[in-house]
Amino acid sequence: MRNADSKRNLIALLQLAYSAEMAAAYAYRGHWHSVSDRDERARIEQIENEEWHHRRQVGEMLGKLGSAPNPSREIRARIIGRTLGVLCHVMGWLAPMYGAGRLESRNIGEYETAAAHARDCDHSEFIDGLLRMAEVEWEHEQYFRSRVLSHPIGKRLSLWPQPPPKETIRESFTHSIV
Ligand SMILES: [Fe+2]
Ligand SMILES: [Fe+2]
Repeated sequence: MRNADSKRNLIALLQLAYSAEMAAAYAYRGHWHSVSDRDERARIEQIENEEWHHRRQVGEMLGKLGSAPNPSREIRARIIGRTLGVLCHVMGWLAPMYGAGRLESRNIGEYETAAAHARDCDHSEFIDGLLRMAEVEWEHEQYFRSRVLSHPIGKRLSLWPQPPPKETIRESFTHSIV
């Protein structure tokens, strides 16, 4: 029973992540087009590409689980992503950086949870990929946090909670097995 629940939870989480990665990728596409600094453009474009890569990986996992993306989530994600991408051009520099960092901090935990579900439903072949995605989301969070903190106003804002060091993603997963 636990196994079946975990598989259902894993599929639900992967469907959510699959669509969220598209929303993020479209939002970042608008975001990097909206900034003028060359390094920022390059890094955010790279982050966009990493989100597309995550989406492909998550899509493959869904297929291996005998499932598929959720069509209504897909439509919603496309609209949200495109809208945020356009808004980046009018929201100034700080708000998209702040919003992105906050969102990324949530993504870390989602992939860690997905890895735990994968373990619990005997799909340990997904664990490494899911933890790697959590680590990449950690890097994204760190980047956007650093950008917000580089801004005179951003420095004075109260930020979302800082994730623990990157190594703890694998450490805490390993410890949770025993
Ligand atoms: Fe991602
Ligand atoms: Fe990300």
